[in-house]
Amino acid sequence: MRITVIGTGYLGATHAACMAELGHEVLGLDILPEKVAALSAGNVPMYEPGLEELLRGHLAGMEGSTGRLRFTTSWEEVGAFGEVHFVCTNTPQRRGEFACDMSYVESAFDLLAPHLDRPVLVVGKSTVPVGSADRLALRLAERAPAGEAAEVAWNPEFLREGYAVEDTLHPDRLVIGVRSDHAEEVLRELYAPLLEQGTPLVVTDFPTAELVKTAANSFLATKISFINAMAEVCEASGADVVQLSGALAYDARIGGRYLNAGLGFGGGCLPKDIRAFMARAGELGADQALTFLREVDSINMRRRSRMVELAREQCGGGFLGRRVAVLGAAFKPDSDDVRDSPALNVAGQIQLQGAQVTVYDPKAMDNARKLFPSLSYADSALEAAEGAHVVLHLTEWQEFRTMDPEALGRVVGERRILDGRNVLDPVVWRGAGWTYRALGRPS
Ligand code: UGA
Repeated sequence: MRITVIGTGYLGATHAACMAELGHEVLGLDILPEKVAALSAGNVPMYEPGLEELLRGHLAGMEGSTGRLRFTTSWEEVGAFGEVHFVCTNTPQRRGEFACDMSYVESAFDLLAPHLDRPVLVVGKSTVPVGSADRLALRLAERAPAGEAAEVAWNPEFLREGYAVEDTLHPDRLVIGVRSDHAEEVLRELYAPLLEQGTPLVVTDFPTAELVKTAANSFLATKISFINAMAEVCEASGADVVQLSGALAYDARIGGRYLNAGLGFGGGCLPKDIRAFMARAGELGADQALTFLREVDSINMRRRSRMVELAREQCGGGFLGRRVAVLGAAFKPDSDDVRDSPALNVAGQIQLQGAQVTVYDPKAMDNARKLFPSLSYADSALEAAEGAHVVLHLTEWQEFRTMDPEALGRVVGERRILDGRNVLDPVVWRGAGWTYRALGRPS
């Protein structure tokens, strides 16, 4: 099929390359010419394992590629090309509010509409407040020359950063919100290779499809905050949250995934999605149903403050004149994304309280520098740790998990480590003469 992908950020760039992999002819559009230029040259502007190889394997003009994938800034070209248009623009949190900013999604629909002069399907993938698809469908039909033959469907995306390609080509499920058999047929044909591999397909109305996405992220955030609330109780009672979550995980009804206690969740999705969900529930008069999400958010934020407190304790009660090494800047490993990064949040707070903070991350250094130019940055974990009074392990990259406590011990000022992700082995670190502390674990 001939499909277009509007908005080539994380979601869109991955979706475009994966749709080419499924055999479709794909045209990606972005309003930023520099993004289009980078993608057209075979460069993915963020770190996502496997994505660049996939892009290059399909990019038109690239030697040895299938040539099924191109990028443009022209709405006219997109309108003329596509039988199915995917809208993948982002919906960030509005400044000073919980609600999400729908302006990029709305403007994508509005700019596309005048170019739709024959029957087409416009499929929303962005994470939107429930009720948006209904409204956007009406708006599209009013503005497109094809009228109601420019149909809308909603197809939320569940990919995780770091696993974006894998999650798109082998999703747990496909959810499509449709209003006609025709729309369902088109999407079944488009996703035929995924359906043939046994991917479950859930066909719903618009609001249910929109809600599946926000409910899924809310559940994940709640699960993480649940175990972090248990970590607070462990700290108060002398229990060990790692053993606790390990024991809970044996109960198949609970399961061990998203039950890792530590510094909590960040990134461009979970925090803003739970807030937008609360805001939308308020508009719908259902705010009571989601007041617990406020607590989920607070528990998550308290972990960051607790890490700052632990670090202060290790620095002898104050940060002035102290050197603190921070390992990790990305909001999670295998990503260079620093949006609402718990690691950088902690680093920033400690720096503001008078410490000299030096950060190292395997992939997120450029993004971290842009967001927090006042922090110091090092080229390696060892360099960051030089002379440090305390080392904070805040994003669990593989290279930190396998760090040699002896080698690190030779460069630090004092052998003190705080494990914000509960993945280092306390026995090994303590055995090498380190004071090891972690969130939710006995000292
Ligand atoms: C999340 C969801 O997992 C995806 O399904 C969804 O599609 C995506 O948001 C989105 O809405 O676009 P992502 O933001 O990439 O994906 O990150 P996750 O892997 O879910 O991790 C989120 C945060 O939770 C990270 O900061 C991670 O360190 C933290 N986390 C995760 C924990 O603190 N504990 C855990 O046990 C698991």
